[in-house]
Amino acid sequence: MTAHITAKKEEIAKKVIMPGDPLRAKMIAEKYLDNFKIVSQVRGNNIYTGTYKNVLVTIMASGMGCPSMGIYSYELFKFYDVEEIIRVGSCGSYVKELNLYDLVLAEKSYSESTYAKVQNGNSEEIISSSNILNNKILDVAKDKKITLGTVHCSDVFYKENNDFHNLVEKYNCLVVEMETFALFHNANLLNKKATAILTVSDSLVTKEETTPLERERKFLDMIELSLEAIIND
Ligand code: HPA
Repeated sequence: MTAHITAKKEEIAKKVIMPGDPLRAKMIAEKYLDNFKIVSQVRGNNIYTGTYKNVLVTIMASGMGCPSMGIYSYELFKFYDVEEIIRVGSCGSYVKELNLYDLVLAEKSYSESTYAKVQNGNSEEIISSSNILNNKILDVAKDKKITLGTVHCSDVFYKENNDFHNLVEKYNCLVVEMETFALFHNANLLNKKATAILTVSDSLVTKEETTPLERERKFLDMIELSLEAIIND
């Protein structure tokens, strides 16, 4: 039990899939897990543990932003001995080559966030994900198109001036989301593995957006990929 999770240690699997949204966690558990149990309900953020193809997997939402992802992933890695976390989430595209529903695998996370600096003094602004997990995902993805690259992890969704072109030029950021930097920092800090598969939900280039209903259905590709990869040892 931790400050934010009431599950017993053995009720959390070593492999965790983390969407941002608690309702997406519920959908994933109901659709893909066998014999799942809700093992914690703190703040209504229900945690689901069950089996996927006979392997124990936990599904838990990260919430939005680095502070929330930072708390949950730290507690999972440090106090529940979780070994692998794959974030599954949405992102906004910064480049015209990435269109709605395209998949991105986060090789690196660039951020202006102070999360890592405040956490342990690490002042790097780019943090890498796990190569081992990325290779497992690419293995399972086979011919499915998935773009490996740097993502921008932003602390701000609503910006007065969104001059993202600078981030594309300087850091090669392909898309924007809000949780990978804290997740990758915690994984590196605690010698664990983490990565993120993202689906483009909106384009900052063309201003196109997806509807919540479309997202619910089309995001299944990314979820199935994450489940197949995390059980593939
Ligand atoms: N900004 C930040 N995070 C996001 C976005 C965005 O435009 N789209 C999906 N996640």
